[in-house]
Amino acid sequence: TWTMLNIAEEQIERVRDQIGDSGLAICGLSGGVDSAVAAAIVQRAIGDRLHCVFVDHGLLREGEAEQVERDFVAATGVNLHVYDARETFLSALAGVTDPEEKRKVIGREFIRAFEAAEVQVLGEAADSGEKVGFLVQGTLYPDVVESGGGAGTSNIKSHHNVGGLPEDLEFELVEPLRTLFKDEVRLVGEQLGLPADIVWRQPFPGPGLGIRIIGEVTADRLDILRRADAIARQELTRAGLDRDIWQMPVVLLADVRSVGVQGDGRTYGHPVVIRPVTSEDAMTADWARLPYEVMERISTRITNEVAEVNRVTLDITSKPPGTIEWE
Ligand code: XMP
Repeated sequence: TWTMLNIAEEQIERVRDQIGDSGLAICGLSGGVDSAVAAAIVQRAIGDRLHCVFVDHGLLREGEAEQVERDFVAATGVNLHVYDARETFLSALAGVTDPEEKRKVIGREFIRAFEAAEVQVLGEAADSGEKVGFLVQGTLYPDVVESGGGAGTSNIKSHHNVGGLPEDLEFELVEPLRTLFKDEVRLVGEQLGLPADIVWRQPFPGPGLGIRIIGEVTADRLDILRRADAIARQELTRAGLDRDIWQMPVVLLADVRSVGVQGDGRTYGHPVVIRPVTSEDAMTADWARLPYEVMERISTRITNEVAEVNRVTLDITSKPPGTIEWE
């Protein structure tokens, strides 16, 4: 709409004013809508002087890395540096089963990987004599309010510690979504021509599939969960329910096995749990009454197409007492 076009243009203009005619900006992409829209705005403002970094930690769902690496790049022409950290994350997660420990490990590895990627990108830039100066973040208005930041704080210099770079290197934050709510961000994203899969992605936790495998995270388990999750999402989309359902985690009970039968054979496979919920803000949630036909298709397809899974169960717990995620 005209109004959204205005918001996009206004933010692009502001970023241009803030960054000026020289210097580089760096932006981390997560696969989610906020960082994608923030990057797209900055790309419109300063073009190739924006360097985006995508840390592939291997915990995204099927197709999500490609959405960033291929579709987002095609839609925006953004300068993307992919940093493959899949092996590093798997090694760091080996033997880790405690949910809080998983979060800590993933958070720590993410910062390390992003910084290593930054050193690479900025090192190349410094070699070519360019001054680096800006860090783009997809902070939304509700985040600003929650953290008590008033108007204008985006101009405060923030010290961003990056090992391997000069100690006094400072980044100024660029936060083009600071005045926007989530629904406005999505509309701006549409206006800027971003892929619908990114713009309309349902909430997905930063630690990704790592906290949807109950038990140790391994490559094989990620592969099983990714295939089951892709089927559940396809069927939700096919039923036209994407916007009615807040999110629908699929959880792999990796340390549990149960007996089943398929054809003439006995199976001893893993259960998955589907957890469709409705919610306004994720603070509270209700278990979603999915139509029986949709549940049936999800169950039949997962047990037919994912050989390792022989049971599909439904989580009918609201929040509270259950959280949306299982970990
Ligand atoms: P819970 O499980 O606490 O989740 O009811 C509430 C919402 O937050 C998401 N979530 C996370 N998002 N990092 C994130 O960025 C996290 O560690 C994390 N844990 C949960 C969850 O998907 C839901 O939308």
